[in-house]
Order: sequence, then structure tokens, then C-alpha cells
Amino acid sequence: MKALILAGGKGTRLRPLTYTMAKQLIPVANRPILHYVVREILDAGITDIGVIISPETGESVKAALNTVFGGRADFTFILQEEPAGLAHAVKTARPFLKDEPFLMFLGDNLIQGGVRQVVAALAGGSPAAAILLKEVADPRPFGVAVLDEQGQVLRLVEKPKEPPSSLALVGVYAFSPAVHGAIDRIKPSWRGELEITDAIQELLHLGHRVDARILEGWWLDTGKKDDIIEANRIVLDEYTERRVEGEIDAETAISGRVTVGRGSRIIRSTVRGPAAIGSGCLIEDSFVGPFTAIGGGVVMRAVSIEHSVVLEGCFLDGVGHVEDSLIGAKARVKRSGGTRRTLRFFIGDDCEITI
Ligand code: DAU
Repeated sequence: MKALILAGGKGTRLRPLTYTMAKQLIPVANRPILHYVVREILDAGITDIGVIISPETGESVKAALNTVFGGRADFTFILQEEPAGLAHAVKTARPFLKDEPFLMFLGDNLIQGGVRQVVAALAGGSPAAAILLKEVADPRPFGVAVLDEQGQVLRLVEKPKEPPSSLALVGVYAFSPAVHGAIDRIKPSWRGELEITDAIQELLHLGHRVDARILEGWWLDTGKKDDIIEANRIVLDEYTERRVEGEIDAETAISGRVTVGRGSRIIRSTVRGPAAIGSGCLIEDSFVGPFTAIGGGVVMRAVSIEHSVVLEGCFLDGVGHVEDSLIGAKARVKRSGGTRRTLRFFIGDDCEITI
């Protein structure tokens, strides 16, 4: 079986970060989201992986995958000139997919488990497609499925204003080659995209069977700033181990599950886990609180920060207390006087802010 990762698109909901970076490469617990996606696919025993890329961010996606997984996975990069929809991406990948069954994984979805059960559903009962669903409080931003009493899929609808159920489509699907015929029959949606949800609905319309599995683990669609901070919280909570490779001075207290990368120095500070500090950082007179990930090469002085994500190469000086923030790479934030109070940021790359 092959896999197809969708790592194209424009990531408009994550601007300003996505002006300079592919949304799928935004780090969660200091690792690009895409790395978790590839790991799940490899764990399901699939190594032949097609990756949809866009003209704007394709080269960075290639580099991020080849440097880490080269040798373990066989990547074919497929350029999609315009983000014309998930089904359009499958159409673009047709020469790679040929007439074989495949697993499709949206490159901005983080899930816990679930891939194997979708693959097994397709192989086991030979439906035309198998989808993964998760019950959510507000399904309006997603594809939504209606099942019958036996759990068979009756109907699907993309981003409905009035959802017919609370079962959202998770971005992991397994398809038989029948999907290509269905894609050829659908028209662009109101948002001008060829929707994969419409293609699956078309399979049902043509009399094919579509199986569904419910995801028991967590699912994070990393569409917006708060989703990234929440993903960071869950992943840090679940996977952080205590591993301190950098230098910690005698006046620094590190408690709980904290990773500190090589070449980092922490001076007169407190770090409380779960938290991840990358390599080559300098942290002085600061407090790094739970659920915070600090990228490589960050310099921080007199800052108290928690429940936040700071991307690589940032410089934060005397900013006071920061929480619930996402700070883009190489941003420079410093305080020049004034009172201290809590600040909340969503800052793009290369910004400079003085408070
Ligand atoms: O996250 C799950 C949801 O993903 C599903 O519930 C929806 O049914 C499904 O349509 C999709 O909705 P989104 O609006 O969230 O999809 P988005 O545009 O964010 O694209 C998902 C991924 O696919 C993202 O990594 C970008 C990539 N992509 C997107 C488009 C439109 C492409 O590679 N090419 C494209 O043309």
C-alpha cells in the first residue's frame, strides 16, 4: 500500500506565521507536525510515500523530510500548482498512486493512533473507502458524517452550517482506486475546491460501501494559533522525558519532565515541566513554565513564560510574564520600561517589538 501526505495549501488561517513557513512544518514540542505524520505512516508499515507540495513551501518540506527520514522512507514529491482542494491533490497524484489502494493523511493533522485501523478496515471488508471519525463539540469547521445503526456511512457533508451529527472527519482516509472515478464526477464546492468529502459522498451515491472507524485517541487539527498551543500542551504532556544535555548553573532549578538540548545554557532560572528547550539556547533570570516549547538558538532574559511556543532564533528581553503565546522564528521582543503585566502574543517571523 502507498501513502499520500497533503502538505500543500496556503495555510491562510495561520498567517502571519505561514507567510514564511509551511503550516505543516510548524513545530509542536519542537518537532514539525509533518514528522509526526510520517512516523504514524511508517508505524503502519508503509514506506512508499507521495507528498503533495506547493510552489511556495515545497523546497522546505522536501528538506524537512529528507534530512530526518531519508533512508527509512521512499518519498515522491508531487507539485500541486494551486491549492484547488483535497480531491484535486489526489487527482494530481494519480500518476504516483496508479491503480493501487492508498492511505491519505492531511499534513496538518496530529492524531494518536488510528492509522492502522483505517488501513485494516480497507483491507478487511473491501469497502471502496474507509474513514476515521471523531466526536467533537462543534463539527461545523469539518467534514461531518452520518452513520446508520450498524455504523455504515450514510451521508457526508463538508463544513455544514447545521451539522447533521457530531462526528467530524479526521484527516486520515484509506481509499481503493474507485475514488478516482468519483473524483472525476464531482464539481468544485462553494469555496471553489474539489472536496474529498464530496468524492466520498459520490462513492456512496454510486452504490459503493464506505466504512468508518471512530478514533479513540486525541485528534488535533492544527488550523489556528490556539490549536498549535493546545497540540503543544498535549504532546508535551504525553511524550516529554527528562533529558538535560545542556549546561545548568547552580542557581537554576529544573523540576519535572524537561528536555534541554545540547549547547544550551540556563542561568539563575527555573524550568518546570513538561517543557522542551531546544539546543543552543541561552536562558537567564527567567521562568519557563509548564507546556512551553522553546526552539533552538533562543535567547531569553528576565522573562516568565508558560503555555507558549517560541520558535527558533527568538530574542526575548525583560518582557515580563507571557502566556498563551505563539512567537515566530527570529522575532525580537524587548521591554524598555513600563509596568509588568501579562502579555499575549501571536507574532510572525522576523518581527521586532518593544513594549
Ligand atoms: O482536518 C480535517 C478536515 O480537513 C476534514 O474534517 C475536512 O473534511 C477536510 O476537508 C479538511 O478540511 P480543512 O479545511 O481543514 O482542509 P485544509 O484546507 O486545511 O487542508 C488540509 C491539508 O491539506 C493541509 O495540510 C493543506 C493540504 N492541502 C490543502 C488543499 C486545499 C493541499 O495539499 N492541497 C490543497 O489543495
